[in-house]
This record gives sequence, C-alpha cells and structure tokens, in this order.
Amino acid sequence: MNAIGKPLSRIDGRLKVTGGARYTADIALAGAAHAAIAHSTIASGRIVSIDTSAAERAPGVLVVLTHHNMPRMNPVPWSHLHPQGQTYLPLQDDKIHYAGQPIALVVATTRDQAAHAGTFVRVQYELHSPTVFDLRTVDKDAIVPAQRMWPLSSSVGDADKAIADATFKIDRTYTMPDRHHNQMEPHATLAVWDDDGTLTLYDSTQMVVGTKKVASLVLGVPAEKINVVCEFLGGGFGGKAWSWPHTLLAALAAKVVNRPVHLQLTRAQMYAMVGHQAATVQVITLGTDREGKLTGIRHDSVNPTSLFDDYVEYAAMASRHLWRASGGISTTHRVVHVNRNSPVVLRAPMEAQGHFALESAMDELAYATGVDPVELRLRNDTDTDPYSGRPFSTRALNKCLTEGAARFGWDKRSPEPRSMRDGRYLIGQGMAAAIFTHWRWPGKARVTLNGDGSALVEAAAHDIGTGTYTVMAQVAADTLGLTPDRVTVRLGDTRLPESHPAIGSATMANAGASVLLAAAAARDKAVALALHGHDAPLAGADANEVITADGGLMLANENVNIGYAELLARNRLSSLVADAAYDPVEEVNGPRAIFSFSAVFADVRVDPELGLVRLNRFVGAYDAGRIVNPKTARSQAIGGIIWGVGQALFEQTETDPVLGRFLNRNYSGYLVATNADIPELDIVFVGGFDVEASPLGTKGLGELTAVSVAPAIANAVFHATGKRVRDLPITIEKLLQSAT
Ligand code: MOS
Repeated sequence: MNAIGKPLSRIDGRLKVTGGARYTADIALAGAAHAAIAHSTIASGRIVSIDTSAAERAPGVLVVLTHHNMPRMNPVPWSHLHPQGQTYLPLQDDKIHYAGQPIALVVATTRDQAAHAGTFVRVQYELHSPTVFDLRTVDKDAIVPAQRMWPLSSSVGDADKAIADATFKIDRTYTMPDRHHNQMEPHATLAVWDDDGTLTLYDSTQMVVGTKKVASLVLGVPAEKINVVCEFLGGGFGGKAWSWPHTLLAALAAKVVNRPVHLQLTRAQMYAMVGHQAATVQVITLGTDREGKLTGIRHDSVNPTSLFDDYVEYAAMASRHLWRASGGISTTHRVVHVNRNSPVVLRAPMEAQGHFALESAMDELAYATGVDPVELRLRNDTDTDPYSGRPFSTRALNKCLTEGAARFGWDKRSPEPRSMRDGRYLIGQGMAAAIFTHWRWPGKARVTLNGDGSALVEAAAHDIGTGTYTVMAQVAADTLGLTPDRVTVRLGDTRLPESHPAIGSATMANAGASVLLAAAAARDKAVALALHGHDAPLAGADANEVITADGGLMLANENVNIGYAELLARNRLSSLVADAAYDPVEEVNGPRAIFSFSAVFADVRVDPELGLVRLNRFVGAYDAGRIVNPKTARSQAIGGIIWGVGQALFEQTETDPVLGRFLNRNYSGYLVATNADIPELDIVFVGGFDVEASPLGTKGLGELTAVSVAPAIANAVFHATGKRVRDLPITIEKLLQSAT
C-alpha cells in the first residue's frame, strides 16, 4: 500500500474547520462550576492579610480559596526538561515570588461570576525590594546552578589556546529577549472527581502521562485513580509541556465544591502564570586558520530563571556539535535567579537561541576571512560529533548546503554589503546552517484489527496540531496493507497505552515507532491465523512469503489472498488486538550521534529610509531522515520558518524590570509574523532513512525548521545594509541607529 510517503491531508482537518474538534474548554459537563484566579500585583514580598468577604458575597460564588483554606499539596519534584512542572505551588503559604502568582481562587456558577468576584479580593502586602527580574537590572552574578539535565559546561581540547593562536578571531555578544508562546488556545483544565475517588483531568497539555504523574504526586492520589485527557491542542509550543499550578488548583477546587470545575486562564494570565522563554546573553569567540578552518570555539550563555527552579536554556549546545574545531571547543551555561515564574521550553528551545549566536558569528567570520559563507561551512563540516567523538548516524548537511544554495541561486550573490539593490531598496542575502537534537524515548501502542477489516490505533501520545492523527494512520495502514481511511487513531488519553509527551519533535520517530511495532504485531497475529487458524487460507505457506495488501494478506507469488474481515470471521473473532512497546537505548548511550540538519537561505529587502525589513524569498533544505508525509512535513517547515521570522523580526515580551513583571496583556502588543510578512517558502527534504534514529527512519523535524531562520535573516540584513544587529528582534529603531 505504501501509505508512508504519501502527501495525505489531515484526517482531522474537517473536524477542526467545522468546529467539531473538542478542545478542553469546549467540553460541557452538567453541573460544572467555574473557577477564576486572582493574582499578585507585586513581584516580591509577603501577604500580610487577604480579605475575601466581599468576593464571597458576590453573585454565584461557591467558595473563595486562599493560602488560608486551600488544601495542602505535596511539592512537585524537580526535573529539568523532562516533563514535570513548576516546583513552587501557590496558595500554600503567604510568600510572593513573582508578579502574577495566584493568591486566590474563586469558584462560582459561571465563569463571569468567578472573574467578577475575583476583583473584590483585597490584599495587603509587605513589599520586599529590590525586585530583580531580568539580566539588565540584576545586581548579582550569574551562577552555575545545581540542577542539570546535561552537563552545564563542556571542554574538548583547549579552545582558549587555539583561539589565542588563531589567524582570524571573532569575539561577540549576542542577546535576545524574553518571549511567550502565545498559543491561540489558552491553558484550560476541567477537573472531575467521580464518586469512587477517580480524578479525570481534561487539560490543555502536551503531556497527558506527565500531567497524571505530577497530579498523583502533588495531590497524593494513586496514579491509577487519575485520567488525563487532551484530544486536541490549540497550540503548545513547549508552554504546555509542563504542568502549571492552575491545573492542580482546579483539581483541588473541584474536590472542595464537590462539582466538576472549569478553569481557563485569561489571555492576560497567559503572560504571567505559565512559562515563557527566558532571555539569553551569549558570548561567542571563534578562531580560524588562514583558510577559515575553525581552530577554537568558546560559547558561554546566561539566562534568568525563577527563584525556585534552575531552568537552564542550553543555548551553547549548538556549538558542541555543529562544526569541527581542530584545537578545541568550550561551552558554559549559567543562570540568575530572579522574581519571575519558571521559564520553560519554547519551540526549538536551546537550538533556536544558540544558533542565532553561532551562525551570526560564522557569518562575521566569513567576512573576516573573505571566505564565502556556504564555502566556510563546507570547510568546517564533520562526520564525527566533536563533543562525543561518535560518528553521526546520518548527516546530510553537505547536501543541505549545496542543494539549498543551488535552489536559492547563491552563486549569483555579490558578496559585498550594500552591493545589491532593487530600486530604492537594499537587497540582502544571508544563510545559516543548523543541527537539532534527536530524542529516543520509549512508548507503547495498541493496534486492533476490527471485525469489519478496519483498524484502530491507540496511544497516549498527542497530536499538538502537527498531523499526528494522520501520520499514525499512515504508519499502521502501510504495515497492515490498508488504505489510511480504514484506520482510526485515538490519542491524548492516559487510559490508552502509555507514551511520551509531545515535545522535542520526537513523536514521529518514537511514538510512531511504537505504532509501527504494534501494527506489525497485529499483522503477525493475522498471518498466524491465515497459516494455522480455522479454515486457514494460506495453510502450508511460509510466514515470510505472506505480504499485506488490499485490506488483508496474500502470498507474494500466488493468487491467494484473504481480507482481514473474512479472516477474523472464519476464526470467530470480533477483533484482533496487538500491543507493542518501543524501548530504544537513549541516544547518548548509543554508538552514533543522531541529529537532524538544515541549511537555510534568506533574501530580504530593506527600506533604507524606514529601516523596514521584508522577507522576499526563503529556501530551507532539511535532513530529517525519511519523510512519512511530505504534506504535513512541509506544513511543519512552513510553521517553523514563520516562527523563525517572528524570532528574527518581531517577537519580544515587553518587561518592566523595576516593577518586575511582563507587561503584555493581549496579542496587540506582541508582534508575530502574519501572512503578509511571509513570501512563498521553498522547502526541500534531502535526508534518507536513518536506521539508528528510529525503525521508521525518521529524525526530528518540526523544531529543526525554526532553527537558524533568525541568523539567516540577520546575515541577510547585514549583507543588505552593512549593519550587524546582534540583539533580536531586528526592529526598525535598531536599523535606523547610525553606528554599526
Ligand atoms: Mo517543544 S519546545 O519541545 O514543545
């Protein structure tokens, strides 16, 4: 059937455009109450007194919960990046650690009543000062945090000596701002307790299984008594990859009022109560020989984190793996603890920030050495991971660079800054390369062959809007010899076989592999029936000669076949169920280094009088291994590139470092790229089957495509204007400032 490789449209597309897809806040339950959160207006201090009497008298109010009467919770265990949650839980004590921290939860009959009553909560604070909020105002040194997922620093060879001895050197600081996820669907929870003490959480989350584990620990409820459900997600981007306090508060509120409770964050609360991407300050030093071959790389990154969690933005990771440096590579990461809620991953965390620094610096090096930017990268390509010394499983970076350059017409570029024009516009062409971490995670899946010959795929994985329902149907259909429309896919419910969260662009390679294995197991059971079952149609044949086709099994060289429906009927089976567990060795322990790669090319025009940058053209060449569905993969790339354009030109959360808060309250002040900002995008996949990455041959794709868009655009802006912007986003005022 070869369903894998077909450019299928999303099977859930119709549901979504007709409003048939049920998002968390859409779920209506009779008798459900609604909760609203009142939050702190100061960033650091203590609640001296809180008066809820007026709120309690407001129409429709059932209860007002504060740190005085909120049931107690167990602390959230800390785990960096692995799915967990913010460790500090509000409404448990009188302390204020960040602006926007919940201080009261109002439960009422309707959502408006709850929000209205929340405005009557009166608080007296003891203000602690000074508040420290971001790296601009911080009065303390960045520190090496205690908690880590990966080594915080790395050193291979002697980078400093290599750089000291280098012929050409670049030493630069690159900065980028705090950003928020700005999902269209706000965080929302519906908490329901059954009479037998079972808690069902409908939650807008990228990790139903992780949310169940956090809820079990924090609430002290056995995991088998908790279900978490999220069938559709209106944007996650990493912001829903952690459990945030509101989910747990909703669960407790439902217990207190003995009714289901809905809790949906307001748009304003999306900037204060759930995570964000922390700003980074990165210093990069590069040294090369006479030919532009790197001899040393040093990359140091600092980010702010909350007072209670050591969230590290591993921006310097990129420099550990992307380019060869003969003398050595050193990286460090440090944090500053400030009065804000915990930062979290945001689409292409680590890599998207790190590559802006590294690939901007590589462009500066190209000008310093006089070597063409594409040629410079070809000269520094490597088959061996510089960090671990392991060979890469597959690395089609050379192909990304050469094929991307050919599609873009890079050979027609004149290298001098300000040398290309279109009327009064300055034209600039820039490029960058990228490497993206590949994850190998365990996951389980179940495939059922139904009596009518159709199939059901089940896994507690997620479709976060990327097309997972569709590609999982393709994988099962391909293995079973069905057309994809004969496969139903169920995801996003902890009652299904346990799987991993939808993070790290890892779902196709891992959850997808579990579906592949489960489908193969179902097929093998069917083959056994066909060979040895009742009235066996393929009796006497060898199992290896049986192939799947046309909704059933057949012998490759003979005209014998049997449909699944007929096969099950002959054996008096209403269905055939197969479970499988994909349990790979973690990538870091494997024999090969597994990463995805890209080379991207941007053509911009800059209005020299207005400082306005417009993207004319963009070419992205990607090695993400085998592509299961070229249409949804291309859609991933379009989304990633647009996200990168936002990072380059628009996105920044406005902050008030004195009051210590994020200032954004709605979409109007947070710019993202719109259709009018995006030209035709030329996307090509140059990778092949990667047997180390996944049984499906795929590597991580989605976030890869968001990486290195910003440096490609920044490099193009330099080529257009001769002005190097090292602080994102590249706004009008930065281009109009005269000094370079
Ligand atoms: Mo992604 S930031 O790993 O959800």
